[in-house]
Amino acid sequence: MKRERPVIAIDGPVGAGKSTIARELAREFGFVYLNTGAMYRAVGIAARRAGLKPEEAANDDRLKELLARVRIEFNGERITLDGTDISDQVSAPEVSDLASKFSALRIVRERMRELQRAAGEKGGVVMEGRDIGTVIFPDAEIKFFLEADVEVRAERRFKELSAKGDSITHEEVLRQLIERDRRDRARELAPLKRADDAIVIDSTKLTIAQVVAVMKKHIEQRINSGKALKRA
Ligand code: DC
Repeated sequence: MKRERPVIAIDGPVGAGKSTIARELAREFGFVYLNTGAMYRAVGIAARRAGLKPEEAANDDRLKELLARVRIEFNGERITLDGTDISDQVSAPEVSDLASKFSALRIVRERMRELQRAAGEKGGVVMEGRDIGTVIFPDAEIKFFLEADVEVRAERRFKELSAKGDSITHEEVLRQLIERDRRDRARELAPLKRADDAIVIDSTKLTIAQVVAVMKKHIEQRINSGKALKRA
């Protein structure tokens, strides 16, 4: 099916600012925002509830069944798993770890790919994650790869978690972030990497508003040049 509106893909490592920026861009253009990391987090929570461990689940029929029937829904800032609100659990560090580990499994990625493609097929969507521009929508009209220095990313993540009342230390956040990025980049399936045609933005020295402004300019240029279909 031909899309009438663009798919905007934003990929990058932990803490580069993808979620805040993607949400803001979606609002600016009147597009839907899809946080694919939150989908993997929901799968991690669902699997944990079912007593599954990522190291043993690859060929487990229970994981297959769980993926076939799992319902992950977004409502503004909230996310529900099979009808139950899990928004307060998704950003916990142990859920980040679970999401990263389960996301390396083929059956998990295949099911998420199906759901994410269905959610974006009509366009008018800003989708963020690790493999949007490389695997989910390699034909996305606009692709960004958002980076920042590791120390800056850890500091942002630390502030976010502290604000939520988590007592984790800065050192621990940095350690977990490095480990998760390493795993997400090293995995065999759909590893985190920049698509050849992605626009790279380094947010180390930029505010959220500045990154949004730069991306907006790129998107508008493409829309105006007729390369990116129309806006909302
Ligand atoms: O974006 P996030 O930190 O909420 O993502 C959590 C984990 O989910 C991340 O460490 C790897 C995985 N993930 C993925 O494999 N592919 C995506 N498109 C998004 C997230």
